[in-house]
Amino acid sequence: MSVEIDKQNSVILPEAVFIIGTYDEAGVPNAMNAAWGTQTDFNEITISLSKHKTTDNIEKTGAFTVAFGTVDTVTICDYFGVETGNKVNKIEVAGCHVRKSDKVNAPIIEEFPLTLECKVKSWNVDEGILVGEIVAETADDSIITDGRVDLDKMKPIIYDSAIHAYRGIGPVIATAFEEGLKIKMTEKQWDSQ
Ligand SMILES: Cc1cc2nc3c(=O)[nH]c(=O)nc-3n(C[C@H](O)[C@H](O)[C@H](O)COP(=O)(O)O)c2cc1C
Repeated sequence: MSVEIDKQNSVILPEAVFIIGTYDEAGVPNAMNAAWGTQTDFNEITISLSKHKTTDNIEKTGAFTVAFGTVDTVTICDYFGVETGNKVNKIEVAGCHVRKSDKVNAPIIEEFPLTLECKVKSWNVDEGILVGEIVAETADDSIITDGRVDLDKMKPIIYDSAIHAYRGIGPVIATAFEEGLKIKMTEKQWDSQ
């Protein structure tokens, strides 16, 4: 028996815990939490955003960073989603430290180990769709193994929209582009069908 899920609560998995970093016109850094986003090309990220202090900032600077929530930063991540930079300096209240990206006019929050540095490619205010060109990505060396980002060290989190919770991610269970070969037929097998 199948159960229909309420349309207002579509469960799309996995959802991200993106932390979008921006500066306002006075150079004050801000950060917000966004779940509705994904990679849409090799160097492109697309995020669905309502109007926020963050979008006001993006309209002024044309730039933003995207850090990834981790087990160690989960409290800060949620705070960035329940408070607005229109009222307080969230970075200061959260006790975070920022430095300006060398590549774009946006802050890198040092408490987060992996950050994309993005230029606005397009911002559709009516539809609330932000597309960013990823011009650089910076990682803390504490999460690198053999030159690659190591998720076991980084401990990223995802957003579970079914129960409004943050979850860790589990171990590797299979190798992509290989696992399916176990059941993929060869041309010879097709021909003999
Ligand atoms: C788990 C979580 C996910 C969120 N995802 C989004 C999102 O994808 N898009 C969006 O516009 N707001 C999202 N929000 C809401 C913003 O983070 C929130 O309104 C925040 O206060 C905006 O900050 P700002 O006003 O400082 O820019 C999310 C909040 C939480 C807690």
